[in-house]
Amino acid sequence: MDILLERKSVRKYTNEDVKQEDLEYILRVAMSAPTARNTRCYSFIVIKDKQMHKKIASVHQAAQMILNAPVAVLVVGDQSLSYGGYLPQDCAAATQNILLAATARRYGSVWCGIYSNEERSNAISKLFNLPENIKPFSLVVIGRAQDNSPAKDRWQSEKVKYEVW
Ligand SMILES: Cc1cc2nc3c(=O)[nH]c(=O)nc-3n(C[C@H](O)[C@H](O)[C@H](O)COP(=O)(O)O)c2cc1C
Repeated sequence: MDILLERKSVRKYTNEDVKQEDLEYILRVAMSAPTARNTRCYSFIVIKDKQMHKKIASVHQAAQMILNAPVAVLVVGDQSLSYGGYLPQDCAAATQNILLAATARRYGSVWCGIYSNEERSNAISKLFNLPENIKPFSLVVIGRAQDNSPAKDRWQSEKVKYEVW
């Protein structure tokens, strides 16, 4: 099957670690995402520390899967570098690349939203002591999936229009 169609959200992981080589591949792919005016305003915080995972879970209700994951990547954007208000798009492209690269290396992953949720955003900024210009965008939790069921086919022909609405 085409690897690009295999991505799905995975929230249950085995105890297996994410290899450093794979992590670097995943982050290299993240950095190959497009950014408006090529500002590359993203940065990535790799979080393996279990105490930190617990702290994140305590402020992000929808990220409880982090408690059983080997690693998470916090995607942040630098507001002082980004161009024309495109920070969220730039960070979203990098986040999606992380998910696809993790899938390509046979890891499960899930995008946990932070940006545009003010409460979460403030709590994560505080937890990581982020400078004012560094905005937390997403948390990607990664690990080897417990269950290797295939991704659903989401093709819907009615979502596609040709030439006119
Ligand atoms: C912006 C955004 C925020 C999301 N936030 C969360 C989250 O906080 N926790 C979570 O478990 N999944 C989160 N997801 C994953 C979605 O729930 C998931 O992509 C959706 O249900 C479709 O399932 P799939 O990824 O398996 O195709 C988020 C996805 C996006 C794009």
